[in-house]
Amino acid sequence: SLDQTIRPTDLNQYIGQEKVKQNLQVFIEAAKMREECLDHVLLYGPPGLGKTTLSGIIATEMGVQMRTTSGPAIERPGDLAAILTALEPGDVLFIDEIHRLNRMVEEVLYPAMEDFCLDIVIGKGPTARSVRLDLPPFTLVGATTRAGMLSAPLRDRFGVMARLEYYTEAELAVIVKRTAAIFETELEEAAAVEIARRSRGTPRIANRLLRRVRDFAQVMGNGTISVELAADALEKLQVDRLGLDHIDHKLLIGMIEKFRGGPVGLETISATIGEESETIEDVYEPYLLQIGFLQRTPRGRMVTPACYKHFNLKEPTK
Ligand code: ADE
Repeated sequence: SLDQTIRPTDLNQYIGQEKVKQNLQVFIEAAKMREECLDHVLLYGPPGLGKTTLSGIIATEMGVQMRTTSGPAIERPGDLAAILTALEPGDVLFIDEIHRLNRMVEEVLYPAMEDFCLDIVIGKGPTARSVRLDLPPFTLVGATTRAGMLSAPLRDRFGVMARLEYYTEAELAVIVKRTAAIFETELEEAAAVEIARRSRGTPRIANRLLRRVRDFAQVMGNGTISVELAADALEKLQVDRLGLDHIDHKLLIGMIEKFRGGPVGLETISATIGEESETIEDVYEPYLLQIGFLQRTPRGRMVTPACYKHFNLKEPTK
């Protein structure tokens, strides 16, 4: 798919996350010099910042295959055993949403990560016995939105932990220009900056906005994405000057109108706007906290003066 072709395939093509990249480069080179597989890697941070992409790059740089699965997809220990026994030596096993693995599956994962072996129970009742099965050495790359959601024993088994940060506007502009080049779409510099500015620090959002703006350019324009066309299309897409979309608006305006800006609990916000609390916490809140529109207090979430200002609203007198 196009999504595959726009993903960078090696570290040199990967833009941003400089600290993570520099460290990974060292760990990859060292592992290759020792002819060992890379230690297990935990990637954490908000969605859309390139955790899957980075895992693929790790596999490419190590010269191995990547197998992909997710926490919720591995329902029983046998599911995990099937995946692990099918790995080739050195392979990268990517587990997305690794915090959603169940306890029984996690227990199977510990010896697999630590000693590359599986303990399987054969039979039932008094004749049941345990057999130890050797696995090919592999690198587990786990991805999660928050490292704090992992159980301590699982977290402790990762030798490398890397937190992905929101991208700068300049980095996102480079990413958007790179993607436009792959699409063979002409994109003005200022239009790239405009898209970058409204992408909430997130490459996935930047590339999605680019696709939609390109649709407008194709149908309403001459195919070239000028800054005027980009601004007009982004207006039509209901993405505001800071990249906030209608769910961000619903959340912030809801807090202001129904709770005088808070403090209000997450569950109450969730019930009021009809979005899952986990989605609010993992997807929407981190960026609103980052730009200083939301604040966490012991009594709940509060919107800030900067948020009132953005919406041109007056703060209530307390
Ligand atoms: N596409 C998505 N994320 C990217 C990144 N970090 N660098 C380059 N292209 C990307």
